[in-house]
Amino acid sequence: MQISVIGTGYVGLVVGACLAETGHTVRCADIDQRKIDGLKSNILPIYEPGLEPLVERNQKEKRLFFTTDLRDAIESAEVVFIAVGTPPGEDGSADLKYVLQVASLIGKHMSREMVVVTKSTVPVGSAAKVSQEIAKQAKFPFHLCSNPEFLKEGDAVEDFMRPDRVVIGVESEYARRVMSELYAPFVRTGKPVLLMDISSAEMTKYAANGMLATRISFMNEVANLCDKMGANVDFVRRGIGSDSRIGQSFLFPGPGYGGSCFPKDVKALVRMGAERGVPLEVLSAVESANERQKTVLVSKLRSALGDNLTGKRIALWGLAFKAGTDDMREAPALTFIDAVLDAGASVCAHDPAAMDHARTLLSNRIEFAETNYEALTGADALVVVTDWMEYRYPDFERVKRTLKQPVIVDGRNLYDVEKMRALGVRYHSIGRPSA
Ligand SMILES: NC(=O)c1ccc[n+]([C@@H]2O[C@H](COP(=O)([O-])OP(=O)(O)OC[C@H]3O[C@@H](n4cnc5c(N)ncnc54)[C@H](O)[C@@H]3O)[C@@H](O)[C@H]2O)c1
Repeated sequence: MQISVIGTGYVGLVVGACLAETGHTVRCADIDQRKIDGLKSNILPIYEPGLEPLVERNQKEKRLFFTTDLRDAIESAEVVFIAVGTPPGEDGSADLKYVLQVASLIGKHMSREMVVVTKSTVPVGSAAKVSQEIAKQAKFPFHLCSNPEFLKEGDAVEDFMRPDRVVIGVESEYARRVMSELYAPFVRTGKPVLLMDISSAEMTKYAANGMLATRISFMNEVANLCDKMGANVDFVRRGIGSDSRIGQSFLFPGPGYGGSCFPKDVKALVRMGAERGVPLEVLSAVESANERQKTVLVSKLRSALGDNLTGKRIALWGLAFKAGTDDMREAPALTFIDAVLDAGASVCAHDPAAMDHARTLLSNRIEFAETNYEALTGADALVVVTDWMEYRYPDFERVKRTLKQPVIVDGRNLYDVEKMRALGVRYHSIGRPSA
């Protein structure tokens, strides 16, 4: 099939490369000339494990093309995916500006009957707006379809290639047939393709992110209570996660959720509810609990070093909002950095993937270290914000030797409390006894 993906970010690039891998001809189009120039030379704008070989192989095999010529991409497509950003507007609702811009171009340049797929996360009811925008200029029939994406940054290729399920909202037999065919190679093991109406598909994406964010905020609050009650959240997590009604995933407490999806999608869902007179009180609480959680590392740092952080030097391990990505959108590290700089401390940070983004975002407000150990030199404390593999088993003797004093604040509960105690490290984590 001739497929075009408009918007070549975290989602569009993965979708395009994976569809090309199954034999389709895919054009990935974006308005960002630099991004497209880089991609043509197999230089990826994002860090995503396993993506580079896919891009390189499929470009070489002439199944995957990158272009800024949106007109050509639309004209040649039988199926077009809209995968542009939907950032939060001022009132928290998802801003459809980019989606509607693309819809308008689709109407203008379509050259045959086609399926138009919204991959971007869009509020319930957006399909009608997209449809109207296309219809203003369309000269051929088109079939709108909502196909929300559930990939996780850091595992995106694996998630797309082997999804737990595929959700497809369709309103025509034509779109149902084309989309089922497109996804057949990815669900050969029997994972379900859930066909439904478009509004339900749009809602499914928000409900999924709302539920996951709720689990995180819930566990963060339980961990905070564990801190005060002398309980250990590690035991509690396993104790509740073993219940098959609850399950183990998404129960790890931490410094608050970040990234490009949970914060904006929870906001958008709350907004959707408010607009329809349906207060989503659980999700409003999830959001405020998360905002509070993003300050937890600073509070723990103050308990370790004293209230006055003026002149303190902090080593920071991890800038990305989670391991496996270079994405720093809404990253808890940014909230932490702002707070400690405001308090008069300085920061020297390391991240295996996000340093380039961080340099652009933070310029010279903090220092950057080439290695995680280098960040420790002269520091009064180490604060671990992201759960990268390489931070899990460091040489603790070296850590202790290099820090000015042996203080670790661990926002991801990576280290064993007893081990830290035995090493003589003053250790603070989330919802577990301190050492
Ligand atoms: N990142 C994720 O993990 C994830 C997961 C599931 C769903 N989503 C959703 O997918 C959508 C895209 O997210 P993302 O993280 O890939 O965003 P992104 O910001 O990484 O990429 C968006 C891309 O769209 C391009 N773009 C913007 N306007 C354009 C236009 N008019 N024409 C062509 N290109 C245009 C931008 O240049 C950018 O490259 C969002 O709605 C998001 O909520 C994201």
